[in-house]
Amino acid sequence: MIAEGGFQSLQWLMTVLIPPPLRRDRRQHAIRARKCDAMQQIAPVERSKETARHTYDKLSSWYDLLAESSERRFRTLGINLLAPSEGESILEIGVGTGRALAPIASRLGDEGRLYGIDISSGMLAVAQRRAVRAKVDRRVQLVQGDATALPYQDGSMDAVFLSFTLELFDTPEIPVVLSECRRVLRAHGRLCVISLAKEESTATRVYEWVHHVLPAMVDCRPIYTGDALEAAGFGITATRRAHDFGIGIDVILATPSPV
Ligand SMILES: C[S@@+](CC[C@H](N)C(=O)[O-])C[C@H]1O[C@@H](n2cnc3c(N)ncnc32)[C@H](O)[C@@H]1O
Repeated sequence: MIAEGGFQSLQWLMTVLIPPPLRRDRRQHAIRARKCDAMQQIAPVERSKETARHTYDKLSSWYDLLAESSERRFRTLGINLLAPSEGESILEIGVGTGRALAPIASRLGDEGRLYGIDISSGMLAVAQRRAVRAKVDRRVQLVQGDATALPYQDGSMDAVFLSFTLELFDTPEIPVVLSECRRVLRAHGRLCVISLAKEESTATRVYEWVHHVLPAMVDCRPIYTGDALEAAGFGITATRRAHDFGIGIDVILATPSPV
């Protein structure tokens, strides 16, 4: 055991002996370790990808009835933070029924492209019809696939958008999805995530209980979005926290931190 005075001297000695860049690395490592610990406290997602695909296929024809009225304002906030501009290449992960396609694609001009990926062919079919109706289908390319292995080249996207999707990946997969986002983003690219936010509240506990008893139907659950982004090597540039029926919703804009 080291007496308090001895401990302070030891800390002083380490400050003198360890060069500033190494001290910064140790601090960042400690912050990342704390954030990773926090991520372990979130509820697991205990359904397979096959179940997710099947559930969203079945939900696709009436998904908008369930979600549209409550989620629109968060999506609009996220798209405004993302600020798509003419000529950009943007990827949406978990496109769903394509409710963000027209608002994003309409800002990209004829040279811009909006790529969309989703595991469910049923959701993608609804999204494709919506893009045609909104006359943005020539700017939109949809593909069926898994966000843990994105079929896009390194550094090919100006921005990535996820709306109510990151929180449906199981805890060990969240860093995998975020590292894929980082891989496909250009150096100064932007990532916008809208997700349920874990808070200490009765509403959160009730939601987590419903997620626990209906793991396939309610596969999303609140997560520590900002911590997950920082642990995956993103710097947060803007963050908004709002509530819907008492549940926290994070809308966060981030950019890859330099390596
Ligand atoms: C809760 S919905 C959100 C849809 C849309 N982003 C929105 O805000 O309306 C989640 C979407 O993620 C898709 N999804 C689930 N697991 C996925 C995976 N592993 N890879 C890609 N998409 C996935 C689902 O099929 C579904 O369309």
